[in-house]
Amino acid sequence: MTKPIELVLMGAGARGAHAYASYAFTHPNEVRFVAVAEPDPERRRRFANEHDLDESQTFESWKDLIAAGKMADGALITTQDRMHVEPTIAALEAGYDVLLEKPMADSLEGCVRLVQAAERTGRTLQICHVLRYTPFWQTLQDILASGQLGRIITVEHRENVAWWHMAHSFVRGNWRNKELSTPMILAKCCHDLDLLVWNLDDPVVRLSSVGSLLHYTAESVGPEIPLRCTDGCPIEADCPYSALGIYMDGRLLPGSRSLAEGETAPNVWPFMTISNDLSWDGRLAALKTGPYGRCVYRCDNDVVDHQVVLMETASGTSVSLTMHGHSNEEHRSLRFDGTKASLRARFGGNIQAIVIYHHGGAQEVVEIPTASSGHGGGDWGTFSSFLRVLRGEEKALTDVRASLESHLLAFAAEEARLNHQVIDMAAFRTQAEGMV
Ligand SMILES: NC(=O)c1ccc[n+]([C@@H]2O[C@H](COP(=O)([O-])OP(=O)(O)OC[C@H]3O[C@@H](n4cnc5c(N)ncnc54)[C@H](O)[C@@H]3O)[C@@H](O)[C@H]2O)c1
Repeated sequence: MTKPIELVLMGAGARGAHAYASYAFTHPNEVRFVAVAEPDPERRRRFANEHDLDESQTFESWKDLIAAGKMADGALITTQDRMHVEPTIAALEAGYDVLLEKPMADSLEGCVRLVQAAERTGRTLQICHVLRYTPFWQTLQDILASGQLGRIITVEHRENVAWWHMAHSFVRGNWRNKELSTPMILAKCCHDLDLLVWNLDDPVVRLSSVGSLLHYTAESVGPEIPLRCTDGCPIEADCPYSALGIYMDGRLLPGSRSLAEGETAPNVWPFMTISNDLSWDGRLAALKTGPYGRCVYRCDNDVVDHQVVLMETASGTSVSLTMHGHSNEEHRSLRFDGTKASLRARFGGNIQAIVIYHHGGAQEVVEIPTASSGHGGGDWGTFSSFLRVLRGEEKALTDVRASLESHLLAFAAEEARLNHQVIDMAAFRTQAEGMV
């Protein structure tokens, strides 16, 4: 039996401790966590208990963990967006192979520095573009690579963010404000842009973009609306964004069972984001004082709630990417039109589907293998692939240079939107590489 890969974790939050590290519980022969860095004492204690770590294996910050010397094969880095570059460069230089959450960095310069650090140290640096590892996108990729659609003429790709997810993450939550995190087109759509880069294998030559924040603003309601849903808001009972309806009784949270008064919420996303104490009183206290109880029209959010990116590829394909936060349900929808067939697909919600409509011929419903774990199987797919790469059993499905390209497209889209420009991507790439 081979020895389990040993990893250290930096950032024991929703992604690190739950989405990925949970794999170790069911696959102890494949992976073992031997240290954690996490400043939140409750999260640090919980992770140490779950993974049987003693005090010498727990650290308050990634800096302390790095200072303790190399203690594992690889590092899983799942700190927040603005804390990706420094710990990753430090980990690569300390000799760790790294699996890093997306976005790889919050600036173009940071992205380029990461590519340079990976190339300089010769270590593996894999970005968690989890959707690449789903059976859905692997099936789609096989269809496109087979050429059965003919030459691809147009692509429409929609990232339909559900209204409650928009409110949770991009109005009240961690990704609401560009200065505190990153532009939404990077935070949400570096995945989509990565998939387009992979699916089309045809570099983007020109790009433009429009979009703005239309709805989640102070002007959308009158002055009588209070700062918090818990402050006796007159429209709370009918408001689809009510924090009480989302986090207390769960009535507005699709897929959640309703929670009776006094009941403790399950330790799952999005409940786990609002507080470490998920009892009824703990959640109510969090809504009265923390960010998640704020009225969606009274937050310090500035990221867009809709944006469209138009792209032309080297071979002439027209591509549109629409991202918005007003969908009735969370899903991505896609359409590829080629000279031999059209393909329509849907990923998310309760339905995953790919249908090919051959020109003048049959309609084909494509079978998609089932998968467990978050993001349609992508979370554990990404993590287990990283372990196989470290064991030398497979080549990574993507590398840091490919990830750089999707991030470049996102930064270009934001620049195009803000300055009403059409961006020449060749010049943009050269300029980015010259930044460092
Ligand atoms: N791949 C995906 O689809 C996907 C989905 C959601 C989020 N993300 C990304 O994952 C990352 C983490 O998101 P999350 O929701 O888990 O956030 P989170 O806030 O729950 O977790 C981040 C953790 O980092 C810890 N931290 C802060 N300073 C630290 C330090 N000095 N050393 C070590 N740890 C430190 C925080 O205390 C927190 O527990 C973000 O960059 C986010 O954009 C990716």
